Amino acid sequence: MPENLLKGKKGIITGALDENSIAWKTALKAKEQGAKFVLTNAPIAMRMGAINELAKECDTIVIPADATSVEDLEKLYDEAKEYLGGNFDFLLHSIGMSPNIRKGRAYGDLNYDWAMKSYDVSAVSFHKMMQVAEKKDIMNEWGSIVGLSYIAAQRVFPFYTDMADAKALLESIARGFGYRFGKSKKVRVNTISQSPTVTTAGSGIGGFDAFYNFADSVSPLGNASAEACAEYIVSLFSDFTRMVTMQNLYHDGGYSNTGISEEIMEKFSDKK
Ligand code: NAI
Repeated sequence: MPENLLKGKKGIITGALDENSIAWKTALKAKEQGAKFVLTNAPIAMRMGAINELAKECDTIVIPADATSVEDLEKLYDEAKEYLGGNFDFLLHSIGMSPNIRKGRAYGDLNYDWAMKSYDVSAVSFHKMMQVAEKKDIMNEWGSIVGLSYIAAQRVFPFYTDMADAKALLESIARGFGYRFGKSKKVRVNTISQSPTVTTAGSGIGGFDAFYNFADSVSPLGNASAEACAEYIVSLFSDFTRMVTMQNLYHDGGYSNTGISEEIMEKFSDKK
């Protein structure tokens, strides 16, 4: 294992809800690699309390912020800057939520108020995080910003409903802001398109077990775990990936480029 990849780097990690969260694993890896950071989550998620244990383990603090509120983000950045003693080298957006999925609404029967909420929480908040960061001039040069996506942005996964559209928007925002931030501060912006992962957000999606197992049997390397995703995120925060920007990067064990696997062929063969 490499050591101290993030030595001297400072940043913000959103979205650690419990020990299954991709952000939780990222915080532990980032700490292990020498980073200093502040944790944040929506005030409502704070009630579960688990994030405070993570903060203790990472020797840091938690600053509550609803990522859809520009005011909360401004406060978060000001307080985090003070605590960390300087500007940021990395930001992780690990946030997603769809009231339509939670309440079992089909894609042809979306509640549009809820759909707007899905887009705001899961995608527009990424824009807000970057717009506030740019206006406050709070990113260091050669910094790195990462969001988390899913392949439903490119291909249809019927049960992913409005989250598919939210992810397409998220990936587009990464390109749009990646251009701006690259020009102005040499800051890179990417999304990671992650395998299905057993977390609160992931397993809340109807039919999750089926598409988790399907993806696992299609991918030559199998599904990528949350921990492997955390390692990939750390590499994107490190100086070894300085020229990668405006990309949607598949971290999926090869799923996105595989048509069919032997396992799936066997399953569907008439000759059994
Ligand atoms: P998770 O449920 O552990 O994390 C989602 C986080 O979003 C939670 O911590 C939640 O409190 C936070 N959040 C919700 N509304 C918020 C708001 N208004 N302000 C601030 N934070 C808010 O689940 P997971 O899987 O770790 O999700 C992280 C990211 O990874 C999400 O963007 C998700 O869509 C993405 N992803 C997950 C996959 C999976 O199968 N689990 C696959 C591909 C991408």
